[in-house]
Amino acid sequence: MSFSFDPLSPAFAENPYATYSELRDFDCPHFDVDLEMVLLARYEDIATIATNPAMLRSLDGIETPAQARERQVEANWHDMPFHERFVQTSLLDSDGDTHRRLRKQIFGEFTARRVGKLESTVQAFVDALLDDLQHSDSFDFVNDFAAHIPGHVIGHLLGVPAEDCPQLRIWSERVVQFFDVDRSDKRKQLAETATREFHDYLVDLRQERSVRPRDDLISKMIADERSGHYSPDEFISTCMLILMAGHGSTIDVLGSGMHTLLKYPHETRQLREDPRQLPNAIQEMFRYESPLPFFHRHATEDVILRGHHFPAGTTFGLLYGAANRDPGQFANPDRFDIARHPNRHLAFGLGAHLCLGNNLARLNMRVIFETLLRRYRVIELAADHITYKPGLSVRGPTALPVKLHFESGPLDSRLLH
Ligand code: HEM
Repeated sequence: MSFSFDPLSPAFAENPYATYSELRDFDCPHFDVDLEMVLLARYEDIATIATNPAMLRSLDGIETPAQARERQVEANWHDMPFHERFVQTSLLDSDGDTHRRLRKQIFGEFTARRVGKLESTVQAFVDALLDDLQHSDSFDFVNDFAAHIPGHVIGHLLGVPAEDCPQLRIWSERVVQFFDVDRSDKRKQLAETATREFHDYLVDLRQERSVRPRDDLISKMIADERSGHYSPDEFISTCMLILMAGHGSTIDVLGSGMHTLLKYPHETRQLREDPRQLPNAIQEMFRYESPLPFFHRHATEDVILRGHHFPAGTTFGLLYGAANRDPGQFANPDRFDIARHPNRHLAFGLGAHLCLGNNLARLNMRVIFETLLRRYRVIELAADHITYKPGLSVRGPTALPVKLHFESGPLDSRLLH
């Protein structure tokens, strides 16, 4: 049976879940000719590959330099020296000993206890943003509100001065956009320039903090670099990764989480009545609209999945967003259910590369939704139709116009719809 789909089409952005469902139904996982990879959409298949140490993110040491170059040119990843050095090469794209060493250096900074110390920073920033916005009749929840938060919080964690955080956001967006299916030369130029400027900024900041260390992540990383735990390039690429991995993903899940609450007024009412359910509701938001739905692994040895043989050299596309709607794992997977339990979704991945920032992402979400539900009795959608971003690698609304009201009233008729 022939099957194809266009990840850049408006139809896929509107509803990727129909395609995911078709992919899950194939007896043998589907090889996509355009993407040159086997797309995995079932929960079990993805968990099997993500936890297999022979399935790697990088092809270093597996392919010859000539093959690596050919692949780079095909993907339009070439002739971008800063991007190749600091973005295409990173903790996320390393494996084995290098990956373990780099991950270990920052792991302790992202535990629930450590990121919990950022709560007052997140709260103060969110309160100030809402104070400014509440004078508007309506505003765009994604671009006027959510988009400002993660860059500020991650910047604060790293030790970037608050006035520079908006610039971090612009660089991060330009770099990350180039990861998706649309790798036009225009986007390439923007990504390379942003990486170079970001690099120059971090070099200056490193210089300044070397002389006057503070209680921030960048000062700790400088000390680790001096002790030989990072090369100078690894220092820069790790700083960039922390920002880029956590920025767009948080904005997208804030937008889709809000949109989902608006579509499920019954669940939202329950949340208002019992705010202790918020951590569970947030867990469900990550499952229901996973903001980073697609990653990959390269097989360094043969592997059998459901009786089908895949030789070493196969690239697998891990559709975490599809796993999270797999009826084999979740009852009524297309229903948003804040009481869902257990809810072992794969939105943060699984195995060696499990997201380092998941506690920080949850903290941001908890503070923001707790504040919104406490401050506003009514939150209304102020548009007829919401569009989602195109592409395979990201999931989130492009804009989400909302109106906020303080007053209490007959909630049933006015609350979120
Ligand atoms: C907001 C929602 C977020 C989602 C859905 C998410 C998702 C993911 C996923 C799925 C991976 C694994 C990639 C793979 O399997 O190949 C990952 C890795 C990573 N994430 Fe996140 N992430 C989020 C937020 C953050 C934040 C806030 C940070 C840091 C500030 C962060 C930092 C990282 C890092 C450093 C890695 C690489 C880990 C490694 O390779 O060992 N993420 N993330």
